[in-house]
Amino acid sequence: MKISIYSSLILFMVSGLFHACKEKPAGQKQISMIKDWHSAAKPDEVVVTHVHLNIAVNFEKKAIQGQAILDIWNKTGASELFLDSRNLEIHKVFLATETKPTDFSFLEDLKFIGKGLKIKIGPEERQKVIIQYESTANSDALQWLSPAQTAGKKHPFLFTQGQAILSRTWFPCQDSPGIRFTWSADVGVPKELEVIMSAEERTADSSAGKYHFEMKKAVPAYLVALAAGNLAFKTIDERTGVFAEPEMIEKSAFEFSEMGKMVSAAEKLYGSYRWGRYDVLVLPPSFPFGGMENPCVTFATPTILAGDRSLTSLIAHELAHSWSGNLVTNATWDDFWLNEGFTVYFERRIMEELKGKEYADMLAVLGYQDLIGTLAELGPGDASTHLKLNLKGKDPDDGMNDIAYEKGYLFLCHLEKLAGRQKWDAFVRKYFDDNAFHSMTTESFVAFLNDHLLKANGLDNQKAGIQEWIYSPGLPQEVSVPGSALFEKASAVADQFLASGKILKSETQNWSSHEYLHFLRALPEKVSQKQMVVLDQEFHFTQSGNSEILFEWLSLSVRKNYKPAFSRLENFLVNTGRRKFVLPLYKSLIQTEAGKQMALRIFDLSRQNYHSVTRSSVEALFEKKTS
Ligand code: BES
Ligand code: ZN
Repeated sequence: MKISIYSSLILFMVSGLFHACKEKPAGQKQISMIKDWHSAAKPDEVVVTHVHLNIAVNFEKKAIQGQAILDIWNKTGASELFLDSRNLEIHKVFLATETKPTDFSFLEDLKFIGKGLKIKIGPEERQKVIIQYESTANSDALQWLSPAQTAGKKHPFLFTQGQAILSRTWFPCQDSPGIRFTWSADVGVPKELEVIMSAEERTADSSAGKYHFEMKKAVPAYLVALAAGNLAFKTIDERTGVFAEPEMIEKSAFEFSEMGKMVSAAEKLYGSYRWGRYDVLVLPPSFPFGGMENPCVTFATPTILAGDRSLTSLIAHELAHSWSGNLVTNATWDDFWLNEGFTVYFERRIMEELKGKEYADMLAVLGYQDLIGTLAELGPGDASTHLKLNLKGKDPDDGMNDIAYEKGYLFLCHLEKLAGRQKWDAFVRKYFDDNAFHSMTTESFVAFLNDHLLKANGLDNQKAGIQEWIYSPGLPQEVSVPGSALFEKASAVADQFLASGKILKSETQNWSSHEYLHFLRALPEKVSQKQMVVLDQEFHFTQSGNSEILFEWLSLSVRKNYKPAFSRLENFLVNTGRRKFVLPLYKSLIQTEAGKQMALRIFDLSRQNYHSVTRSSVEALFEKKTS
């Protein structure tokens, strides 16, 4: 096992990951690694090749306590190992060969990056470093939930969220997406709880509250995840299943019954699923994202449990990351579009396989509408609308937006159109195969694209519009705008309603949730209070159990000051921590003085329910508004 990891690391060095690589013969010492602004690691000197966590989850103290045992490869005989850490307490550090602790010190404390950890090591090529540590109240990856914040109300719950740079807040590591390591863990929890990690193998001694995990595939730190709580499991098919609190398990298994088909569709498109099992863990509603692609077990929000399987494209998305992101990973967060653009494209291809083109077209149009909104908000010419980002000095969690997802998607559609679907699909499969378990910069992607798609088809960077798509703001002129015949019909119903004040039930009775969403988005700002009342009577939007529809309706209600929806709005904001919903609702509330008072009052009630990612985004919004 070790030999293959090390040989893959060497391959990784000469595979074009390094900018400098192109000019210099491979293997030269002076080759330097891509700079990751957000990490203190110096991987061209020393890399971590394996992490073993020997930890206890202490719910009373709300802390993870124990050891991180790191296998390191000292490539250059360096005397120091640099790790990332933020809001961690480091008690002692040992080299495995010595009985006395080794020296360590912290680098300067940088906002959101944290304090790099400098550890004195020996000159040997292979060493083990043992770090005794514990997390603190400010370890932002962790959300400790009280029993009241769970569905069962009896047991506490803990989950981690590592992406983008939060893994360093719960274990010391080289927290850069360009650095991969294998890992294992021994985790102790109170006996009544279960532990799940993003690992290939789990052995449980549940009566003792002891769990062992093994991840033998090398992954970046942001993909190491843990959850502990009262959990049940239900099988979907031989390689897929769902974890959730017992109260949520039936609903979850129903919603995700097509997961096995999704994995098969994905494999048919772009090659074998490399990670063994594919399970989904449904978290309590404070989970800050829709989904997080933790290997082997996607973490998901319960807000996609619509009861009619209408929001499962999110599972296709997280599954697609098993190729784009987890197998071939953005080398730095500046290259985030490689993870998300490919994943949105792949997600829509999976949905096209499962539900047909009309369905995938609806998803593409909704995404395009989001993109147009984000572009308008950021403004023309804004560098944050480039696919290749420059996040130096910025918190990647703030700097990453719809652009990577939806402009990235449109760019890949553009390449598909240039090459034709057959050649494009063969290229994408090769991209995943040839670069599996490696990281990619935007530039190494462009080089790969040239070598394996463009040249063979008489194209080059200029003809493919690479410069404009990747390094320029906004959208290129020749972009082909997604369209949906079903949505055109829904728009016509919206127009008719605005003109007549009436809705013909016969026209809407077979609508999917996506058509309702489009209908709501198609209503212009001039929709009247009276029309809002009619819509609510007809469709019961205020009571909708579909979180996407409810969110769209609540947003409209805030803009229209439609008061009958306000108590539902409050309830939604207090109970849901998904940032994609929460942040825009607060944003629209604070546009008026009365709304601002309401927002502050609700935030006061909700803040302890939010994960740090959501809480700090909302706080930043309030600060911007008041400063
Ligand atoms: N990897 C992302 C979530 C993420 C991105 C976490 C950046 C931290 C930093 C995940 O795959 C994702 O994109 N989730 C989306 C859903 C998707 C269907 C667009 C979400 O959470 O809404
Ligand atoms: Zn994603």
